[in-house]
This record gives sequence, structure tokens and C-alpha cells, in this order.
Amino acid sequence: MGPRESLRMLLKPDYQVYTADTVDGGLRLLREKKPDAVISDIRMPGTSGIDGLRKIREIDPHVAVIMLTGFGALDTAQEALRLGANDYLSKPFDAKQMREVISRNVERTRVQRSSDRALAEITELNQRLMRELAQKERLASLGQASAEFVHDLGNPLTIVWGYVQLLAKKLEQNGDTTQTSSKELSIIEQNVRLCRELLTMWQSYGSEGALPRKPISICDIVNDVIKRVESVATQNGVQLTCDTGAQPCSLVGDSVQIERAIQNVVINAIQAAADKKGRVTVTCARGEFYVDVRVQDTGPGIPKSELGKIFDPYFTTKQSKSGTGLGLYITKKVVEDHNGSIKVDSTLDVGTTFTMRLPVQSD
Ligand SMILES: Nc1ncnc2c1ncn2[C@@H]1O[C@H](COP(=O)(O)OP(=O)(O)OP(=O)(O)O)[C@@H](O)[C@H]1O
Ligand SMILES: [Mg+2]
Repeated sequence: MGPRESLRMLLKPDYQVYTADTVDGGLRLLREKKPDAVISDIRMPGTSGIDGLRKIREIDPHVAVIMLTGFGALDTAQEALRLGANDYLSKPFDAKQMREVISRNVERTRVQRSSDRALAEITELNQRLMRELAQKERLASLGQASAEFVHDLGNPLTIVWGYVQLLAKKLEQNGDTTQTSSKELSIIEQNVRLCRELLTMWQSYGSEGALPRKPISICDIVNDVIKRVESVATQNGVQLTCDTGAQPCSLVGDSVQIERAIQNVVINAIQAAADKKGRVTVTCARGEFYVDVRVQDTGPGIPKSELGKIFDPYFTTKQSKSGTGLGLYITKKVVEDHNGSIKVDSTLDVGTTFTMRLPVQSD
């Protein structure tokens, strides 16, 4: 039995063993089987074992290579180690010693490979994090720039708004109430208002999370809204009633935003009820975990075909009355930012009810 065959018998119980009788055959096996260790004689037919070693290292820099040297050929063995062999054994080898050397070297390759894999994973993870960080930084600087832009835009817009009002007044004083000029002015006013709404919305996005969210009383907010819009209701001949219930209820949130959200819905209801000089009723109904703020009107109702669009930005049926169509869009966003929901029930010629459900703080 040749040394190759005796090695196979020796290692077979513990390892999967492949053998080749030439360097080229061995290299082919190395590519195909990706072994954990290669045992090669230094003297091989055709290509020498040392040349074979060089080729092994080109294919796989990490596989453990153990060279078998002739008895007393220490120089060649050292040359092999210099060229990248991991170990050597002199022939004739001892079975126990061979097993130890193999086991040590197989372990070395496995550790090396798993650390290579871990390194590749870490490198990839690191690259991904760097990419995400770069993107976040880009967004953060964009956010910062937009906040400044929005802030700077506010001042000239307020000036334009002021002059539009002034011009309207002057036209009125001069008795210049020609259809065209008041129509043009109302278009300017409408669009400046849209810009202001957009800016306010942007500012509230920017301040989200930055503003401390405090416990706020929903009943107080609803009462404040009612006080503020009472005169609008009276002017439009609308009867406005409010019942906030006996139970106080508070939630954690941004009172300015919530107030705005509720006011949008109440103003819509007053506008809807105005034509028929109808009624608007606002109630707060406290459940165990939530409060329902309900705004009911006796207006014309909303056609089914429009129900799906009313929360879309810029959807409005009030072109002639300078509606921007942002009211309900903003309301929905604010309510959802507070983990609430908004729903609408409407019957044509009977009226509409909006219900904003907001989670309350437990007592
Ligand atoms: N209570 C309601 N009754 C009937 N239609 C309503 C009612 N509330 C809202 N709508 C319809 O939904 C549309 C969108 O409302 P939204 O508040 O978003 O905008 P808007 O009131 O038209 O304009 P803005 O609120 O910006 O002044 C309204 O134009 C109207 O057609
Ligand atoms: Mg509105």
C-alpha cells in the first residue's frame, strides 16, 4: 500500500478524503472540493510539490497545507514553510502525530474561514451603515436648510398678505368695486393664504418631536374653539351648540395642533350649515381609552363620489369662497400624529358628522 492509500485509510473515519496522484489533479480537487487541509508530498511526478504549493496559494490563500518531506530533508521543509506551507511531516510518519497535525490544521482553516466570513459581514454591514449615515446626514442638512427657508419665507409672505388686505380696503374706500379688480385681488389673497397654510404645515412638521408634548384637556380645547368661531356661526345664521360632557379628559399632545384640527372641522360644518341657516353640534364623548370629538351639521351632506377625496390635499368645492382644500388634510395628519383617527358619515340633504377619535391619558 502506497503512502497516499495508507493516509486515506488513516483519515477516513474522521474526514472526507480525496486523493490525486499528480499536482494538477490535486489542484483540480482543491477548486472543486474546497478542502480544509491539503497534504502534499514535496516530491511529486511532473510539477514539484513546491511549485504545487505556490499554485495552491494562488487558488486558496487560507487552506492549511501540510508538506510531506523525505527523511532528513530539513532544508526543503523549511523552504516549504517559507513559501506558505503551514506544517510539515517527515516520512515515514507516525499515525498519531499525523492525526494531531491534521486536526490542528483543519481547525486552523475553519477558524480562518469563519473569521473571514465574519469580517466580510462586518465590512458589508459597515458599508451599509456608512451609506445610511451619509443619507441621513444629507436629509438632516436638507431639513435644516428647509427649516431656514420656510422661516425666511414667512416674513415676505406676511408683508404681501398685509398689503393685499390694505389694497382691498383702499379699493373699497375709493368705491372701486369693479368685478375684475376684486376678483383678481381675491385670487391673490387665496394663493397667499395657501402659501401661509403650506408654511405653517411645514413648520409643524419641523417642530414635530421637538415640541414637548404635554397633557392637554380636550374639553378646554373644544370650548376655546367654540368661543373663537361663535361669531362666524352667528354671522352665517348658524346655531352652534356644544356639549363637552361632565367627564374631563386629557391626552398628551400638541394643543396648538389639536385646536387647529378641531377648528378646521367646525368651520367646515358652519360653512356647510350656512346656506340653510342650520345647526352645528359639537360633543365630546369619553370612552374608556379614547374620546370622540363629534362635529355634526345639518348642511347639504357630501356626495358619495366626493367622500373618498375630502381628506386629499387641495380638494375643495369652495373655489368661489377661497377654500384651499388643506383643512381636512391637515386635520387628518394632526389626528393621526396623535395616534387617533377621523371618520365621516354623511347623508345628502340631511347633514354630515365628523368623528375624531383620540386616545386619552388614563386617570
Ligand atoms: N361638513 C361638511 N359638509 C359638506 N362638505 C364638507 C364638509 N366638510 C368638508 N366638506 C367638503 O370637503 C372639502 C374639503 O374640505 P377642507 O376643509 O379640506 O377644504 P376646504 O374647506 O374646501 O378649504 P379650507 O379648509 O382650506 O378653507 C370641502 O371643500 C367640502 O367640499
Ligand atoms: Mg375647510
